[in-house]
Amino acid sequence: MRVLVTGGHGLLGTAVCTCFSLLGHRVIALGSADSDITNHSITRSSILGFKPDLVVHAAAMTDVDGCELDPDTAYRVNSVGAWNVASCCEETGSRILFISTDYVFDGAKKAPYTEFDETNPLGIYGRSKLLGEKLVREACPRCYVVRTSWLFGPKGKCFPKTMLKLARTKPSVNVVADQVGSPTYVDDLALAIADIVQVPMFGTYHVANSGSCSWFEFTQTMLKLAGLNNVTVNPISSADWPSPTNRPAYSVLRPYVRELQGKPLLRNWQLALKEFVAKGIPE
Ligand SMILES: NC(=O)c1ccc[n+]([C@@H]2O[C@H](COP(=O)([O-])OP(=O)(O)OC[C@H]3O[C@@H](n4cnc5c(N)ncnc54)[C@H](OP(=O)(O)O)[C@@H]3O)[C@@H](O)[C@H]2O)c1
Repeated sequence: MRVLVTGGHGLLGTAVCTCFSLLGHRVIALGSADSDITNHSITRSSILGFKPDLVVHAAAMTDVDGCELDPDTAYRVNSVGAWNVASCCEETGSRILFISTDYVFDGAKKAPYTEFDETNPLGIYGRSKLLGEKLVREACPRCYVVRTSWLFGPKGKCFPKTMLKLARTKPSVNVVADQVGSPTYVDDLALAIADIVQVPMFGTYHVANSGSCSWFEFTQTMLKLAGLNNVTVNPISSADWPSPTNRPAYSVLRPYVRELQGKPLLRNWQLALKEFVAKGIPE
């Protein structure tokens, strides 16, 4: 299969490219310098030029606070950019898999969110991604939407890497304890994506490592695994963390559709984090 990955040099995109290459597919990774998804004609030449069977659309403006401060760019990249990619997929006959987020939910449910729950994003990032979902579904019916959460992996920026860097230079770190989610290892997600696209069952899927935790618990576990036992982790509330964004207090994703399909759950986030730390977290 010919697979084109937008955001192909990012945290998730890199893992997706590696996974599909190892599975024997012909893969091309595009970054913003290769092909700006906000420009329809550039996007069209990239996609029609490669003639993919599948586009994994992982490119996005992922800076959640940045989206809040610059909504036009957020909607341009996360909504119209996704629309551009999907319309080119439709034109060339490709399928598209759009990566979306737990931030499409408001966190009021207090139980894991399934694909059948109502969305109600609290901030611009979540709103722009939700609009992206809608536009992609309308522009290209051969479309999978995969919602995931709290990604970590070796490439680019992610929460455990940031906390590790802080913990190596400070005796204590303050971490938000009143937001709960499902940390997800990009290697596990990439394998699940490869499985989902094996059949043309287009629709929405939740994919995350099993279990849940707060950012505080995530940090405690990660520092313990990294052997940094002398760093104090202080729980703080979201109100004490300076941010322009209102984030969901609870955004645990339940992979309900995969459960109903009889698919195995992804391993729990602690096991995935253990493997990530054991491999040596790059700077
Ligand atoms: N990180 C998370 O915790 C998380 C959680 C839920 C969902 N997601 C979703 O998962 C996907 C991947 O996220 P990630 O964390 O891997 O993000 P990432 O590391 O920030 O990668 C996103 C990539 O998007 C590319 N990009 C940005 N603007 C672009 C543009 N105008 N044209 C073309 N490419 C552009 C960037 O390419 P360059 O580097 O080349 O500029 C970047 O590498 C995103 O759709 C995100 O919304 C992420």
